[in-house]
Amino acid sequence: MKKKVYVGMSADIIHPGHLNIIKEAAKLGEVTVGVLTDKAIASYKRLPYLDFEQRKLIVENIKGVVKVIAQKTLDYVPNLLIEKPDFVVHGDDWKEGIQKRTRQRVIDTIAQWGGKVIDIPYTHGISSTQLNKRIKSIGTTPNVRLKRLRRLIAAKPIVRILESHNGLTGLIIENTKVEVNGILREFDGMWSSSLTDSTSKGKPDIEAVDITTRMLNLNDALECTTKPIIFDGDTGGKIEHFAFTVRTLERHGVSAVIIEDKIGLKKNSLFGTSVPQKQDTVADFCAKIKVGKQAQVTDDFMIIARLESLILGKTVAHALERAFAYIGAGADGVMIHSKEKSGDDIRDFCERFRKVDKNTPIVVVPSTYNHITEEVFQQWGANIVIYANHLLRAAYPAMLDVAKSILTHGRSYEANDKCMPIKEILELIPGTK
Ligand code: SPV
Ligand code: MG
Repeated sequence: MKKKVYVGMSADIIHPGHLNIIKEAAKLGEVTVGVLTDKAIASYKRLPYLDFEQRKLIVENIKGVVKVIAQKTLDYVPNLLIEKPDFVVHGDDWKEGIQKRTRQRVIDTIAQWGGKVIDIPYTHGISSTQLNKRIKSIGTTPNVRLKRLRRLIAAKPIVRILESHNGLTGLIIENTKVEVNGILREFDGMWSSSLTDSTSKGKPDIEAVDITTRMLNLNDALECTTKPIIFDGDTGGKIEHFAFTVRTLERHGVSAVIIEDKIGLKKNSLFGTSVPQKQDTVADFCAKIKVGKQAQVTDDFMIIARLESLILGKTVAHALERAFAYIGAGADGVMIHSKEKSGDDIRDFCERFRKVDKNTPIVVVPSTYNHITEEVFQQWGANIVIYANHLLRAAYPAMLDVAKSILTHGRSYEANDKCMPIKEILELIPGTK
């Protein structure tokens, strides 16, 4: 009987190094490839460019591959226990770094039935970092970008979104990475905030910046990024207008719109009850959601209903009742908003909501209760966390400080250390040279 060989791979960017591993594996027996699911990949790095079905299709068509299965975790062990391979073949790069532990678990597991790990010398001269840069330069299409939010919600324990109000903040969200315990962390997408969009135009956050203007603004971020966008749709405006808004957003590749259940002159929620704010009726808001759902063309676009009950001093029970009504009307998710500092009301909402509804995505916006971590939100049952205004709030004091320094000293010399070096700004945007 032919020996069984197992190879695990993401297969997002297939290069000759992968083909070499499969070629070598095929010399040892019948090759099964475990293609990592979106969820398995998202547990340690950026969501792949191609979705699972596309990647599976590619691997199925590589010479020497007999069978393709899903590898649902970064850990090989669950699949190994099912497949019981005689050999596991991998590039020898996994002997070092973060993958070292994974390799050891594979060795220990397959040793139980006499299986062996075969390390294939790494193919030099191919840099996946370079290939990744290429992928970015391919860019994206509205269709690919739009779908990405639903893929992220399905793949990640919590989706991390940061506010963007121009191209530059979009680029920060696109490119910023930090390494925490050997795992790369980055933002998953952008929040197009009505507050920061209005503020950066010197206008109040009262729906005075119209949708057409906001779309023109958003275009800058669309041009220089590939990550998904959640659009702050304020109240959604008049029902008749909302249908057009949905179509416009969808056509541009925006993944979701969040509309809040308020009517009349909209005031920013963080004012709470200190300004007159009125909640819509359940019936009218449901009608708005329905019109939006009917207007969208794809199945992927999401309309998320934002509950203003807690902002307006009502109870969690009030918010929950509305949440279920909005979902009944077709909402693809709910955003629960609060300006309380403790976060207790948000926790109460999430936990009670999850007792009834296990799946509908919950969005939280921790501007005031920002001591709570993403990990905790995840435990409460939230799916998306939006940092709604932070890049603008960070930029303004920094700019003000420099402006004051120049005024005070009659020159900019004293502000040198507060400004990025000229060389750096010249090199910040590729193509400036
Ligand atoms: C925004 O960012 O514009 C929001 C969130 O709607 S909040 O400002 O908290 O109302
Ligand atoms: Mg807003």
